Amino acid sequence: MLLVLLIHTGIQWTIRAQHNLTPFGTASQSSMFIRSSAQGALYPPISNEFSLQTCSTTNVDGASKAWWMFQFSFGSAFITDITIYYREGFAYRMDGFKLYVTNSSNIPPDGYLCYADPDPGLPDITQTIPCNQLGKYVIYYDTKGDDKTGPVVELCYVSINGCQKGMWGANCSKQCSSICIGQHCHPENGSCVWGCDEQKCFNNKWDMHTGACTEGCVRGWVSQICNCSKYESVTYDSSSIIIGFTSTTVNQTFGGKNYLK
Ligand SMILES: *[C@@H]1O[C@H](CO)[C@@H](O)[C@H](O)[C@H]1NC(C)=O
Ligand SMILES: *[C@@H]1O[C@H](CO)[C@@H](O)[C@H](O)[C@H]1NC(C)=O
Ligand SMILES: *[C@@H]1O[C@H](CO)[C@@H](O)[C@H](O)[C@H]1NC(C)=O
Ligand SMILES: *[C@@H]1O[C@H](CO)[C@@H](O)[C@H](O)[C@H]1NC(C)=O
Ligand SMILES: *[C@@H]1O[C@H](CO)[C@@H](O)[C@H](O)[C@H]1NC(C)=O
Repeated sequence: MLLVLLIHTGIQWTIRAQHNLTPFGTASQSSMFIRSSAQGALYPPISNEFSLQTCSTTNVDGASKAWWMFQFSFGSAFITDITIYYREGFAYRMDGFKLYVTNSSNIPPDGYLCYADPDPGLPDITQTIPCNQLGKYVIYYDTKGDDKTGPVVELCYVSINGCQKGMWGANCSKQCSSICIGQHCHPENGSCVWGCDEQKCFNNKWDMHTGACTEGCVRGWVSQICNCSKYESVTYDSSSIIIGFTSTTVNQTFGGKNYLK
């Protein structure tokens, strides 16, 4: 029985090769309701149960927007998903919320919209939202509220899963290979997000922000999604998040011949 339990735990670690990053940073919010604090959402209990100590609560003052923000202490993280426990019985206040990953603390948020609560109907007060983005902040943002209170944020628990940029594996304890462009890899399996081996970029020039070869690839390579293989044997994954800029690069290098299709 004990053995079975151990094996089960081992498997979970393997699948969820990432962890909750909220111990590594600080939370803030648009306003404080009485003694509530933005940090309240970072601590257990992992539940929807409300208390001023354990949930973040913004004012009910009719403001036009309310937000909760988390900033990593170590700069950038690759965020795979975000789990939210909202206050029980108050789904109507959560209604219309948006969740962002950004590189700035600007409000309104200026970055990647991971999720926007759709109309009609009330949202589920417990949600895990996939995002798969590199960023410095996570922002829960709400502009929708009833006439009296305006938008209100009441997050009882938030976990932000992923790894610090450059790390992967269970506990994010493994370093991404230096063969990955920008030493940037996926937290779950260590595969290069921006592709591999910048040596294959023409003149060894690549964009630090996107990983794209700025002057195309060296002859015979399709560079950043090459998966370290020559183009003859490349199999393209159309769901790849980096495929968008690759076709341009390939076109540049191979004189307009499109290797993508
Ligand atoms: C992850 O951390 C836990 C708790 O500290 C530890 O038991 C486990 O062995 C670690 N796993 C790896 C792969 O480092
Ligand atoms: C690594 O994981 C990501 C996300 O699940 C996936 O898109 C990618 O294809 C995986 N890479 C490999 C080499 O398995
Ligand atoms: C943040 O910046 C990094 C590198 O500059 C970029 O790759 C990433 O896409 C940006 N994230 C967002 C959410 O805009
Ligand atoms: C990348 O390489 C791995 C290992 O050789 C292979 O299993 C995988 O299918 C390749 N992926 C692509 C998109 O070429
Ligand atoms: C690549 O070049 C081909 C041929 O010139 C063109 O039809 C195609 O639209 C180009 N693709 C991109 C993404 O620029």
